[in-house]
Amino acid sequence: MTHLWITGASQGIGRAVALAALQRGWTVSATARGAEGLAALVAESQGRIRAFPGDITDRAGLAAVVDAVEAAAGPITVAVLNAGTHQPTDGAAFDPTVYDRLLSVNLGGMVNSLAAILPRFTARKAGRVALVSSVAAYRGLPKAGAYCASKAAVTALAESLRLDLAGAGVTVQVIHPGFVRTPLTDKNEFPMPFIIEPAAAAARIIAGLEGNGFEIAFPSRFIYILKLLRVLPYRLYFALVARQTGVSTGL
Ligand SMILES: NC(=O)c1ccc[n+]([C@@H]2O[C@H](COP(=O)([O-])OP(=O)(O)OC[C@H]3O[C@@H](n4cnc5c(N)ncnc54)[C@H](OP(=O)(O)O)[C@@H]3O)[C@@H](O)[C@H]2O)c1
Repeated sequence: MTHLWITGASQGIGRAVALAALQRGWTVSATARGAEGLAALVAESQGRIRAFPGDITDRAGLAAVVDAVEAAAGPITVAVLNAGTHQPTDGAAFDPTVYDRLLSVNLGGMVNSLAAILPRFTARKAGRVALVSSVAAYRGLPKAGAYCASKAAVTALAESLRLDLAGAGVTVQVIHPGFVRTPLTDKNEFPMPFIIEPAAAAARIIAGLEGNGFEIAFPSRFIYILKLLRVLPYRLYFALVARQTGVSTGL
């Protein structure tokens, strides 16, 4: 039996993954802070998805959530650590409080989620954990210093854990979504190339979780372009991003 525990399941990508996993016949346990969003998810699943409200920035609280998940539905076999947030940041008006918040949720929350789940997986010598990062981890993007820093850290963390846990029976994966239409991206006022719907993202994620590749990245054409940008020398990279976004790089 596959038992998925997914964080950030009250809306957006997490909600779509929870529903797609249920369709696949998996047992699904869903966590987020918002009881209303979780209740709507449970209702849509006709009571088959179980909701366990929790805040990923509360380490002790999250450990108790995982205790409750396993008590109710048995050992978690797949954890998708998806909860996260974004807020634009302008380096020219540097506000450390936004950095505190994004790093606390996107990186600190990831650490708390791993702390709740990994000891169980290593004790059982079994389990799969997928860390939701972003293509924003590939390189620094304009007006996204806090978000890019938090997601680059998540990707590096996943790479290290993949190496550390390879011999422990635990599979570690990283998820790099491009733009997905969710309440998070609905706030963006700029054009979002190659944007896809949450159900399409969820299908890619479920397929990735059924394989053993490290990186689950989509949509493919956007990923190819971004990976090319990633290997460009800085001078070329900054010039190209400046041309695409209208941001002056001073180069
Ligand atoms: N959408 C995209 O284009 C895109 C692209 C790349 C990566 N991503 C990443 O994919 C993940 C999901 O993004 P999304 O677009 O689906 O975002 P979203 O629509 O804003 O959903 C975020 C989810 O995370 C939960 N969450 C936020 N803070 C939390 C906390 N402290 N504790 C527990 N749950 C929390 C939210 O629920 P509550 O508010 O109820 O807690 C919600 O369920 C994020 O990590 C995001 O960075 C998204």
